[in-house]
Amino acid sequence: PKIGVLLGGRSAEREVSLRTGEAIYRALLSNGYDAVKIDVDKNIVENLKSKKIELAFIALHGKYGEDGTIQGLLEILEIPYTGPGVLASATAINKIATKKILLYEGLPTPEFFTITRSEYNQEAQVKLKEKILAMGLPVVVKAATQGSTIGISFVHHQDSISSAIDQAFQYDHEILVEKMVNGTEVTASVLGNEKPEVLPLIEIFSTTGVYDYAAKYTVGLSDHIIPPRLPDNVQQKIKDLALKTYLAIGCRGLSRVDFIVDNNDQPYILEVNTIPGMTETSLFPDAARAAGISFETLVNKLVQLALE
Ligand code: DAL
Ligand code: MG
Repeated sequence: PKIGVLLGGRSAEREVSLRTGEAIYRALLSNGYDAVKIDVDKNIVENLKSKKIELAFIALHGKYGEDGTIQGLLEILEIPYTGPGVLASATAINKIATKKILLYEGLPTPEFFTITRSEYNQEAQVKLKEKILAMGLPVVVKAATQGSTIGISFVHHQDSISSAIDQAFQYDHEILVEKMVNGTEVTASVLGNEKPEVLPLIEIFSTTGVYDYAAKYTVGLSDHIIPPRLPDNVQQKIKDLALKTYLAIGCRGLSRVDFIVDNNDQPYILEVNTIPGMTETSLFPDAARAAGISFETLVNKLVQLALE
């Protein structure tokens, strides 16, 4: 099929998407596919039609790409596409919606509460501070729908609560305050449709102490440790939780489930990435490589899964 690599777009993760898209485009060419890159803008419908795209390889991250909107458009145009569908994408982009499903399914996720911009007045601010102090510092303040750690603050002192909240509200009208779990960051890359498999787990070790935007995309600022330095039974539990999460959210194709494992070896699910990064420093391709799947083979497999 003629494959359109949808990349760029206008989310805060545009730069990451360009890198993901370029890597995928090259892999498609070396697999012998007829591929074309399409930077997603308001002319996307005309571009998809004029370029006669038969399959869309979605290499977009964040809003208008990872959130179900482009998936919905492709459904209407009857163009098959890689990765999860509309509902799973729209759910996973929203950390609050995701956590509500995890709670319903009895899957572990750090304690949290949410705030919307409209209810955030002066009276609310005082109550909020009390609520956060009752939960106990440190906490993590996040916009509901950002990726790559954008809009996230780690709050260790009560003086920085309001700036963290203001920062998160710059990206979204709803935000969440999550109890910070100290421990080991581990990610589970999941591949497949009805019978998904978990690729080797990766422990993420940031040399700067936080796995933020810089650490994620600068070569040398974070290490991927495969397998994680955790007991076998804990690793097995993480894999099991990753599969349950994948199925609960309704993912297909691929997704990456991010975890934090506390110092008592209890794993907590942080979020699901339905279009995980595929740059040269990214986790998903590394997990595939550890399973003996080259980047080219992985990209080919994602095309096959989209056509199933
Ligand atoms: N949101 C970035 C692209 C990731 O999860 O890899
Ligand atoms: Mg993410």
